[in-house]
Amino acid sequence: MANVAVIGAQWGDEGKGKVVDWLASRADVVVRFQGGHNAGHTLVVGGETYKLSLLPSGLVRGKLGLIGNGVVVDPEALLAEIARVQAQGLKVSPETLRVSESATLILPFHPALDKAREAARGDGKIGTTGRGIGPAYEDRVARRAIRVADLAEPETMSHKLEELLRHYNTLLRELGADTFAKDAMMAHLLALAPKILPFAEPIWERMDTLRKEGKRILFEGAQAVMLDVDHGTYPFVTSSNTVAANAAAGSGTGPWAVGFVLGIAKAYTTRVGSGPFPSELHDDIGKLLGERGHEFGTVTGRPRRCGWFDAAMVRQAVKIGGIQGLVLTKIDVLDGLKELKICTGYRINGEAFRHLPAGMAAQAAAVPEYETVEGWEGSCRGARSWADLPAQAVKYVRRIEELVEAPITLVSTSPERDDTIMVRDPFEG
Ligand code: GDP
Ligand code: IMO
Ligand code: MG
Repeated sequence: MANVAVIGAQWGDEGKGKVVDWLASRADVVVRFQGGHNAGHTLVVGGETYKLSLLPSGLVRGKLGLIGNGVVVDPEALLAEIARVQAQGLKVSPETLRVSESATLILPFHPALDKAREAARGDGKIGTTGRGIGPAYEDRVARRAIRVADLAEPETMSHKLEELLRHYNTLLRELGADTFAKDAMMAHLLALAPKILPFAEPIWERMDTLRKEGKRILFEGAQAVMLDVDHGTYPFVTSSNTVAANAAAGSGTGPWAVGFVLGIAKAYTTRVGSGPFPSELHDDIGKLLGERGHEFGTVTGRPRRCGWFDAAMVRQAVKIGGIQGLVLTKIDVLDGLKELKICTGYRINGEAFRHLPAGMAAQAAAVPEYETVEGWEGSCRGARSWADLPAQAVKYVRRIEELVEAPITLVSTSPERDDTIMVRDPFEG
């Protein structure tokens, strides 16, 4: 009986939320270990839609949710999200949600700098969510961040604000953006403290207790391997390690506690924001995938760029992320297409590659090499067993399995929780 870590194997929005919610029925606790409210995880349960950014997706099943030290927490966004899901009937209280006392806080100057820098980059922009994720992680490694525990220490906050505001106001002024006053920031923090502190605790200790009690832990990744700050399409990435290896460091437990690594991939490819995307489609098929798949960013509402399934990239993600089983989602979106293409490698300046090399110019120059497979006439939508899938769809899944070098564990066939085919139980390890 293993724990399970769920991570994205492409550029995000693969359906991690749906999969975590589905698996959560058999878990005791769901832990977020990186990212912040740049994530947007959508769950559809009996027609009701939940959109979660910071809250662990297990909350919808009434499971304990933990926000680990590796997450950057915007306290205002957290409180707003709690209020939003409470209005939908979910129970969120310090009984059901705990936040690491050593998590870094996102404060108003973080999104301000994020946006001002993006504006200054012009065409070279990363296309961030504008939520201050990058600047907050910068503060964490620069050892100047205000963390959750600091909310209980006004003197510490005051001291840190001096350094932070010197840093931020200098940059903001230079970029022609509004600056922040210390008094107002201090008042803001003091007002937040009594609302956030009741959720705070040493999550590492909770993890230790859960382990001793033999509880099943589900680690919920945000973003994806190709957005990982080291392994992704740098610099068009997010500012955290998104791989399952970070689940331990980001929650305060041992690497052996992470368990089975489940990678999630769409049956095609999407990306929001800028950066290389070799198998991107600029034609009617790309448009069709976007429309059928409702490919709009959960967080920003931006249309997602769409393209064919890139098996070379997912294979790379499988190896980097140590993915032991792959979930293929949104296969229903491909229903009715006569012919499908799968990217199996790239040509870069005349040279053949089976992976994306690290160089920025090389990535931008990657031309996909495709193999063509037959589409299917029937529908995958809502299928709950292999037998319900058109034969050609099964072939497509099996071909992907071969190319990415990871066994298919689940197949998802609609946004609804139960429209899921289980091939192998990830909790069995
Ligand atoms: P996440 O960020 O990885 O959790 O993914 P998002 O929630 O941002 O995006 C995935 C979208 O696809 C959501 O709107 C889901 O409701 C939807 N979705 C998930 N699985 C399926 C599926 O199998 N078929 C279809 N049609 N939609 C799905
Ligand atoms: P989920 O968890 C898709 C992208 C942004 C941008 C880049 C950097 O829902 O899969 P950031 O604001 O993190 O500094 O932006 O990363 N990005 C995501 N794309 N899904 C996400 O999360 C993302 N989180 C960040 O669009 O290209
Ligand atoms: Mg998303």
